[in-house]
Amino acid sequence: MGRSSKDKRDIYYRLAKEEGWRARSAFKLLQLDEEFSLFKGVRRAVDLCAAPGSWSQVLSRKLRGKREESEDVKIVAVDLQAMAPLPGVTQIQGDITKITTAQEIIRHFEGQPADLVVCDGAPDVTGLHDVDEYIQAQLLLAALNITTHVLKPGGTFVAKIFRGKDVTLLYSQLKVFFSGVTCAKPRSSRNSSIEAFVVCENYSPPEGYVPNMSNPLLDHCYDVDFNQLEGPNRIIVPFLACGDLSAFDSDRTYPLQVTMVTTHIQGSTPVGPKTFKIKDPVNESVHVL
Ligand SMILES: C[S@@+](CC[C@H](N)C(=O)[O-])C[C@H]1O[C@@H](n2cnc3c(N)ncnc32)[C@H](O)[C@@H]1O
Repeated sequence: MGRSSKDKRDIYYRLAKEEGWRARSAFKLLQLDEEFSLFKGVRRAVDLCAAPGSWSQVLSRKLRGKREESEDVKIVAVDLQAMAPLPGVTQIQGDITKITTAQEIIRHFEGQPADLVVCDGAPDVTGLHDVDEYIQAQLLLAALNITTHVLKPGGTFVAKIFRGKDVTLLYSQLKVFFSGVTCAKPRSSRNSSIEAFVVCENYSPPEGYVPNMSNPLLDHCYDVDFNQLEGPNRIIVPFLACGDLSAFDSDRTYPLQVTMVTTHIQGSTPVGPKTFKIKDPVNESVHVL
């Protein structure tokens, strides 16, 4: 007898059905918690890219327990898609790369920083690895940007990451804000997938860093605000004009005329514009400047 498509579903899919989780992803967060004790002392949490809501379920069950009313527990879940309500979870339908969504999340946490931000965001996979990795990285950076506004010093940020060729750049960016950055792969995450999770502990932004929504990654808008940033929010590197002032000006047009003959011998030091040969494409003859 052939196997039905239901039989072929993996063990975590079946366990999720049995235990009432909305998605098998719930086990990824539970297994990350087993290793990192993510929920210890957490009262306020943000779940970015939350639909259909299994991570929010985990947060709700772990932070609220069996209590019907847990006034001091606050969970905010955000996704492009609407999701069915969950006890104790405030939902925002929006795009985490948009400033307006970020601002809405921040409003919910006014005066009360979050202890934990999690993000399981994934783009619709195109199959073009470079594009998928780029969009995934953009989601992670958008999540990081929101995190810098709402997370308390010492707090934890957990996010899905694609271990592509440029992943070390992301690690470096995360290390600017967190003293501990670990790449973790839960057993429930398929080995065939480049998916993993960064667990970023002890939020400690650079001294003087002011969270700022003019991050150019948001809305793909390199607006002037970005050039107004100061202190550790803006890194300025030295700009150096190089070359002899008498060298050819690359913005000028020079006539194809024989003016002077000097040969540049390989290995010798070129001496300004006088050592330049130009081949006239029309006459195919060599002119020497
Ligand atoms: C893998 S699912 C998340 C599963 C979820 N953690 C759970 O356990 O049920 C990825 C989610 O990311 C959301 N997403 C992708 N891009 C987004 C964006 N720019 N803003 C908000 N959500 C986004 C998708 O709508 C999708 O629901």
